[in-house]
Parts: sequence; structure tokens; C-alpha cells
Amino acid sequence: MKHLLAIRDLSADDLNSILALSEAPYTHVLQHKGVALYFEKPSARTRNSMEVASAQLGGHPVYLQPNELGIGERESVEDVTRTLACYHAIIAARVFDHALLEQMAAVNVAPVLNMLSATDHPLQALADLLTIKQLLGRIEGARIAFIGEANNVARSLAEGCALLGAELNIASPTGFGFGSPMLAVNQVVDPAEAMDGADIVYSDVWVSMGDEDSRERREVFAPYRVDADLMHRAPNAHFLHCLPARRGEEVTADVIDGSNSAVWRQAENRMHTARGAMLWLTGAAA
Ligand code: CP
Ligand code: NVA
Repeated sequence: MKHLLAIRDLSADDLNSILALSEAPYTHVLQHKGVALYFEKPSARTRNSMEVASAQLGGHPVYLQPNELGIGERESVEDVTRTLACYHAIIAARVFDHALLEQMAAVNVAPVLNMLSATDHPLQALADLLTIKQLLGRIEGARIAFIGEANNVARSLAEGCALLGAELNIASPTGFGFGSPMLAVNQVVDPAEAMDGADIVYSDVWVSMGDEDSRERREVFAPYRVDADLMHRAPNAHFLHCLPARRGEEVTADVIDGSNSAVWRQAENRMHTARGAMLWLTGAAA
């Protein structure tokens, strides 16, 4: 039984295989099967890309929310997982606590797919890596400047870069870095330093879902806005963002809406890589 909870759980071969499956022709491998989509937080891209990717594979997505599932309250995590596995070929979940995904995966009755947790966003990293491959023609040796918090999106991207030989410079305010050294990641405080030689510039929101009560963040992160001045340090770099974006906070409108921005291609790739991830989970080979 395969699960996809974090990029660090994959080998380079697994990751390459998922990326290849994302661009390969596909068939209705999920015909007459369900895909459970459990969301504890809002979503535009993840829900829609997963629903459509499920349909592309012939499957039937079912959207589930905490108020009806009552995981750990109405019913134990294990019983909910076993129940969902009676109907669904894949159990996908967006959760606050990554440990919940691990608990579901430990039951080992259906592949569990992480659709974002506090620590990881592997589906986003898959789309990021596919987009980088399409833009640069390669992932190995790519230089990525991530400007902002070393959070779920940054962690999964960093782990993907380490596996596939890209270099990641991440500039975060003190206290918002990874907290410990990470393979293939150069952690700095100065955004200008991170931009050195960048092929790709990446940003994420300053205030993630679940961190909304952290009011002082907007002051701390103000020097980490990706604007035209910062982009001039790497004039040929492509701009990426997981979205949703707050124009005027982590990125200015001229950058995200400018000619170097590839955020819509990246958003579309969420669907292709969701399909690739589900194909891989159900045992397809690239
Ligand atoms: N990037 C991303 O995961 O977007 P949503 O939160 O809208 O799903
Ligand atoms: N870091 C953001 C990503 C949203 C897709 C969050 O967790 O809210």
C-alpha cells in the first residue's frame, strides 16, 4: 500500500515517476471507484484539481467536511478510515495536524494522500517541480529563490529540490526559517542574497491558514515582498506562487501579473500532477 504524505517519503525514482505520469496519457483506472476528499480548511485549487483529476481517471470524488465526518469525535480516526476505504480507492485529506494523516495511513486500508497539512504540501511541490521542468527544460541544477516563510509549501519544495538536484535559497525573517539545516537548502535572512543567480522566484502568503491570529507578521514580513526591484536582481527569472496570493503583501501586482509570471500554468499543473499522484498511488508505472 502506497501513501503520499510528504515528499521526504519518496525516492527520486518515485518523484520522477509521478512527474512522468502527470504528463502521460491516462485511462479510467478509477472507473466505478470513489476518491474521498476531506477538507478541514478552505481550498480552490486543491479541491477543484483533485475533483477533475479524479473524473479524468474515471473516478467519483466525494467532498467531505469535518462537521459531517466528525473524525475523532463522532467516530475514531481508524473507524472513519476503514469506512472510507469501503468505498474509495484513495483517501485524500487537507488537515491542520500532519499526525492525523499518519494515523490514517497507519490503518493501511487505502492509499492516503496529503492535500496540505501544517508542515507539508506535497501536491503543490509536484506542480511546482513540473512547472519548473517545463519552464527551464530541467530540474537538476535549477536555482530557486524562495522568499518568505519556511512553511508547508517551502518544505515540500525544498525536499523535492534535494531529491532532484535543484538548489534552493530561502530568505525568511529570523524565527520563520526551517529551524534546522535542510539538504540542498541555503537559508538566509536577506531576500536580495537569496536572489543570486535565480532561475525561479517563489513566494507564498505571509499568513497561512490557521495562523490568522498572528497579527505582527505583516510588519515582520514587509521586507520580504517580491516587487519589481527585487525581481531586477534576477531579470530572467520566472515568478511562481502556490496561490492564493495577496497582491501588495508578499508580491506586487506588476510581478504576479507580469510577463515573467507562470502562476496560471503552475495552477493548471495542479490538476496534471494530482492525476499523476493518484495514478502512482494506484500502482501505475511511468
Ligand atoms: N495552492 C493551493 O493549495 O491552493 P488552495 O488552498 O486553493 O487549494
Ligand atoms: N502556506 C499556505 C499555503 C496555501 C496553499 C497555507 O498553509 O495557508
